[in-house]
Amino acid sequence: MRVVLGVAGGIAAYKACSVLRLLTEAGHQVTVVPTAAALHFVGAATWEALSGRPVSSEVWDDVPAVPHVRLGQGADLVLVAPATADLLAQAAHGLAGDLLTNTLLTARCPVVLAPAMHTEMWTHPATVDNVATLRSRGVHVIEPAPGRLTGADTGPGRLPEPDDIVAQALQVLAEQEASDTAAGAATAAEGDLAGRHVVVTAGGTREPLDPVRFLGNRSSGKQGYAVAAAARRRGAQVTLVSANVSLSAPQGVEVLEVGTARELEEQVRGLVGAGGVDVVVMAAAVADFRPAHYTDAKIKKTHGEGDDSAPTLELVRNPDILAGLVATRGGASTPYLVGFAAETGDATGDVLSLAWAKLERKGCDLLVANEVGVDKTFGQDDTTVHLLRPGTSEVVSVGPATKDHVADAIWAVVAPALP
Ligand code: C5P
Repeated sequence: MRVVLGVAGGIAAYKACSVLRLLTEAGHQVTVVPTAAALHFVGAATWEALSGRPVSSEVWDDVPAVPHVRLGQGADLVLVAPATADLLAQAAHGLAGDLLTNTLLTARCPVVLAPAMHTEMWTHPATVDNVATLRSRGVHVIEPAPGRLTGADTGPGRLPEPDDIVAQALQVLAEQEASDTAAGAATAAEGDLAGRHVVVTAGGTREPLDPVRFLGNRSSGKQGYAVAAAARRRGAQVTLVSANVSLSAPQGVEVLEVGTARELEEQVRGLVGAGGVDVVVMAAAVADFRPAHYTDAKIKKTHGEGDDSAPTLELVRNPDILAGLVATRGGASTPYLVGFAAETGDATGDVLSLAWAKLERKGCDLLVANEVGVDKTFGQDDTTVHLLRPGTSEVVSVGPATKDHVADAIWAVVAPALP
């Protein structure tokens, strides 16, 4: 899960290091957002080293990535520990003067605040009102622990122990997930793919040369994952055959991991062969060729004294999985086949004319053609695609749009076409 760990400027900031550790050890991807005051207590280097991610307090760093909204929008949980009286006041009043308060305003996920301050500040009517306001909006404010405070004084206001905070935050996250799953299942059942089994391939295959090297491609898997998630939202049972993708599995989708083209082929053929598959979407970038020989030991840079010649790679053709599915169609259980075409356009034609030729060659039921280039499509969030079907010259063009939007546009064409 993507967790934003906010750290406000109190002495208890040092305890947030343990909170961070516990969260990362539990497998969460944690972005730390300290306030400028928090950095007086624990420096950015500590947060960066412990989280393995860059750290910023201000909205002015890395502006093109729009961090002031991205972090909150993309988070599954925002936890602030410690939350000072000042931070509670800002959050209660919707102030957004730095990255953490912006994140609190843009987050639509559960927000957990773990206050820590002197007893007088905690029991001050202003703080009491702010906490009540936040709780009334669904923010989870953890009760501070009683005990020794920074000076010689004692009373309520201590930051609870890190494992306590993490346990409470993860409980909130688990409750949210359970309610999302229930809501998702309810919507999915009403979708236009209810009762359908959909297989989606995503990512890019890697064809190994030796134990450390491979021939691969730039596919991030984002489009395939979006297609799988959209199918699930529309009610389908979804199996995602995923080749080398570092995204988290869409909710409710079964993921089968593969590495090479042949592994991907084996999984897809196995699924289709077992029957009951209504649609196969081949969004994966499958390597057309693989090294003819795999070397068990790492290929050496030099072959011996004075021999610094480069090796020549011999390649052999990989099976065309989509073509294989098209070739075996005909039986009652033939799935609807969707191919993808990543085209750059060349001297022989523009993207669309190359795509029509590919649809003809591939013989699938729908071809999703998109323009690719170093900065286009691969790994990007937005894309433009053209949907081509045999037997009609009509082209459905979508975009520039998010890959989620494109995914829904694909299903809007496929779902009504299913028998
Ligand atoms: O011919 P091209 O590789 O451009 O075709 C792309 C489409 O074919 C994609 O849907 C891709 O998943 C599929 N493909 C395949 N097996 C291959 C190569 C591509 O199924 N070996």
